Amino acid sequence: MVEAASTTWVGLALVVGPGGIGSAVAAELERTCPDLNVLTAGRHGPPASSLQLDIENDTDLNQLSSSLRAEGLPLRLVFNCTGRLHGPELQPEKRLQQVERSPLEQQFGINAIAPILLAKAIEPLLVRDQPFHFASLSARVGSIGDNRTGGWYGYRAAKAAQNQLLRSLSIEWARRWPMATVSLLHPGTTDTNLSRPFQSFVAPDKLFSPKRAARQLVEVLLEQTPDQSGAFLAWDGQSIDW
Ligand SMILES: NC(=O)c1ccc[n+]([C@@H]2O[C@H](COP(=O)([O-])OP(=O)(O)OC[C@H]3O[C@@H](n4cnc5c(N)ncnc54)[C@H](OP(=O)(O)O)[C@@H]3O)[C@@H](O)[C@H]2O)c1
Repeated sequence: MVEAASTTWVGLALVVGPGGIGSAVAAELERTCPDLNVLTAGRHGPPASSLQLDIENDTDLNQLSSSLRAEGLPLRLVFNCTGRLHGPELQPEKRLQQVERSPLEQQFGINAIAPILLAKAIEPLLVRDQPFHFASLSARVGSIGDNRTGGWYGYRAAKAAQNQLLRSLSIEWARRWPMATVSLLHPGTTDTNLSRPFQSFVAPDKLFSPKRAARQLVEVLLEQTPDQSGAFLAWDGQSIDW
């Protein structure tokens, strides 16, 4: 077992995507790991986030490692909390005839391609003999085995693609960075902008506040060790079918 106790985490943590869950995750990490210097990164730079980062922009990603190196602390944890389900020109599809190329590309851009390129961008900061966490928010609806209702073609498929990309990452890093742990986490339905248009289908006691979701996610994340790397886990620590 390697460094499961939160109090031992000392250095730099980066939370990407300070939205509903991401902001609460940053606050929770500050609370549970007082020796971590927690930075946030998002499309809106300071003061909204510590660092300006559009995770869909290669120039921004290429600059990330030098911005983090300038902090002068070892990077111990990166938590990707970005994602998109809907937007001005993006609605989750209810049936095949609503499936279009551009929204599919948007879904894959943020929910699948961005997290693996984030891992690539921060890899130069890894140290072989130092424990490190890379976590990314996935979604239970990205489970192929658990897909019983269909719909949401692009979002489901993009989250499934993220799961596969980060599972491959966990296998490569197990060889190259044996103290790194990669985790794919489902937060549970949480009261944020992302879920707001769809909350009428959710029982009130099943809808988490961002604070509660963050507490649960950080607890599950910090329990993971390198021998468990590449797991797809729900907020309660239960494994989710791929
Ligand atoms: N809420 C839920 O019920 C739920 C359930 C299952 C899974 N999830 C997953 O949890 C994650 C977080 O969702 P949330 O509920 O916290 O949603 P949210 O409040 O909408 O937060 C999403 C964040 O992603 C950021 N983002 C989007 N595109 C970005 C980009 N190109 N570069 C940098 N940041 C970008 C957004 O920033 P901007 O302000 O710049 O757009 C926002 O801060 C997502 O991956 C989502 O799929 C959520």
